[in-house]
Amino acid sequence: MSRTIIVSNRLPTKVLRTEESLTFQPSEGGLATGLGSIYRQQGNVWVGWPGLFVEDASEEEYVREQLRDDSMVPVFLTEPEIRDFYEGFSNSTLWPTFHYFSQYATYEQSHWEAYVAVNEKFCQAVLALAGPEDTIWVHDYQLLLLPAMLRQARPEATIGFFLHIPFPSYELIRVLPWRKELLEGMLGADLLGFHTFGYMRHFLSAVSQLLGFSSQNGQIETGARTVLVDAFPMGIDYERYVQAAASAAAVQHEAVYREALREVRVILSIDRLDYSKGIAQRLRAFELLIQRYPEWREQVSLIMVVVPSRDQVAQYAALKEEIDELVGRINAQYRTIGWTPIHYFYRSFPLEELASLYRLAEVALVTPMRDGMNLVAKEFVASKADGHGVLILSERAGAARELSDALIINPTDTGQLAEAMHDALVMPEDEQQLRMGAMQALVSQYNVFAWAKLFMDRLAYTKIKQHTLATEMLTPAVLQQLRVHYQDAQQRLLLLDYDGTLAPFNTNPQRAQPDQELRLLLQALADIPQNRVVIISGRDRHTLEAWLGHLPIDFIAEHGVWLRPAGEEWQLFQTLNNEWMRDIRPILELYVARTAGSFIEDKEYSLVWHYRRADAELGAMRARDLLNHLTFMTSNSDLQVMEGNKVIEIKTAGINKGSAAARWLATYQPGFTLAIGDDRTDEDTFRAMPPEAYTVKVGSTPRSLARFSVASTTDVRKLLRSLL
Ligand code: UDP
Ligand code: G6P
Repeated sequence: MSRTIIVSNRLPTKVLRTEESLTFQPSEGGLATGLGSIYRQQGNVWVGWPGLFVEDASEEEYVREQLRDDSMVPVFLTEPEIRDFYEGFSNSTLWPTFHYFSQYATYEQSHWEAYVAVNEKFCQAVLALAGPEDTIWVHDYQLLLLPAMLRQARPEATIGFFLHIPFPSYELIRVLPWRKELLEGMLGADLLGFHTFGYMRHFLSAVSQLLGFSSQNGQIETGARTVLVDAFPMGIDYERYVQAAASAAAVQHEAVYREALREVRVILSIDRLDYSKGIAQRLRAFELLIQRYPEWREQVSLIMVVVPSRDQVAQYAALKEEIDELVGRINAQYRTIGWTPIHYFYRSFPLEELASLYRLAEVALVTPMRDGMNLVAKEFVASKADGHGVLILSERAGAARELSDALIINPTDTGQLAEAMHDALVMPEDEQQLRMGAMQALVSQYNVFAWAKLFMDRLAYTKIKQHTLATEMLTPAVLQQLRVHYQDAQQRLLLLDYDGTLAPFNTNPQRAQPDQELRLLLQALADIPQNRVVIISGRDRHTLEAWLGHLPIDFIAEHGVWLRPAGEEWQLFQTLNNEWMRDIRPILELYVARTAGSFIEDKEYSLVWHYRRADAELGAMRARDLLNHLTFMTSNSDLQVMEGNKVIEIKTAGINKGSAAARWLATYQPGFTLAIGDDRTDEDTFRAMPPEAYTVKVGSTPRSLARFSVASTTDVRKLLRSLL
């Protein structure tokens, strides 16, 4: 039976060393708590680090055995690995970079080497476990190289990857000395998931700018494979938090706290110790609240839970000192005999106690500087069965994309944050209910089970798609069968692309005229009464007319904008306007000015930037820039940007070779259809063809919607001649 092997650095259980023995405890952090509920299904296994240095083989064996019962497989790290891989590259290089704290990042070659070695160690552990049917799901920034390592060992494996932290802008990624290796590592997966569309966009842009792979609809063509990228906002195990909050234990804990606090109202914050969480800024904002609104003194306290995390890393240790100092100073300054402004806990709490804190609090303060998602925000929402309570949420937490009914703040704006706390404390009951109700509906529906299912379904779909995209060479046997079908059919449709298919490319497109051999070949094919020959090209209609207009063949020009059945007049596919050219042409002119050898081709309803004659590297680089630029410019318009062979073309969306070809199929209902093309734009034609059609891709790109492939224009002519 196939199962899912979850792989992450941190296991959901961590081992602690006490004086007498080793003990086992649930891990903290969104990855472990979120996934903890799903991995137990269907015999799944979780591979990861149990969180401490294990001294000898007998201890290892003991830990291994204990975890086995819970379907976990430990990967043990040595002390140098913990230092260089975990505290070093993972948490002193990647974590700060991905959270926009580049100033905290270190770049140590030895840390990088440990990162490679530990990813390799995880790879071996997974390979020892995974069968060919199993799905491997790798998680988070500690294992960015693992997908490609697994792919190398198992080319056919089904591999998913999910990043639990933000993926930052290209400007941050490019600072990393090992940026290419990291991206290539990730691209070993079949499907890459991010919490938000924004992170996904940053990733696609980094891949395009650093590796030169462009993408369409989140699909990256690496040359060897197709990789899908998508946004999957992670949820929580909603029912678990509803039940924990309703449990007798939580109610009882709450009563104890309430008695100690008397009437004082509670604002709550819960995070791991981390500079990304905005803890110090939040303390300053709380101080500002009680300065600006003295009436809240003795009326409101902040309960702040900080869970110890990565305290061997210098920046974390420094942050701990800063928080200790701030809390001490604020409490010393404002406290009274009966009131403590900030109740600060530096430790972790079991679920029932967390649940009782969620119950107790009227306001939750979730104010990270950057946070991939932030599950605490969702857990607070789930715990508020009575609909009472206000969430204050940073605009830079992934959760803010979904929880728009929270009070959304900019965490660096201390004044705004203080005002938000005040607003939350005076918010009318019915408004609280309204906002909380809307958030509860969302968080309960998009829970962690729905999230995992979406990801897994998409992964399965990606795999199926890859298989259907595998194109076979057009062998003599296939050719033989093709000719039999051709002979048998009463009506035959031949859809032939021009450049790169019937005629080879020329550095000057106007010099790629048909030669005598081609003209005769097309004439002979069209002379056969059962045949309908259609040239289906991106070229403008005047060129096609001038070159081939005298032949009894049909034309589809400008990728479907203009149509002309043999002997008739040119007609537009549909009414179109070209006013947009006024805005887009200046952009293309800019790229022409910056890229010697490139030029603009004006067609009636589309614009094309050609870079075949530019320096190859410069051309490719500028093309990537231009593509990003245009994709951004046209994102809210009905224009589409298409990449062809050394060209970028802009035209009205919805019109392509495929939509035009579909008209010919509908009109002639051929018994035999042959479609040949070499370019990305021909994929639209292939997509529009019925399954029995012979679709043929020219050239060596391994992924195409075409069923068959041939090597060159010479082979195309040979194939067509064999039909005569
Ligand atoms: N958490 C916990 N024990 C605690 C405090 C927090 O297990 O004492 C959990 C909390 O319930 C949440 C997770 O730690 O599920 C924190 O996840 P989040 O996504 O908010 O932040 P991360 O730590 O992943 O950056
Ligand atoms: C975040 C990361 C996780 C990590 C967790 C706790 O949630 O995305 O990968 O496990 O923090 O951090 P730790 O370093 O203790 O594993």
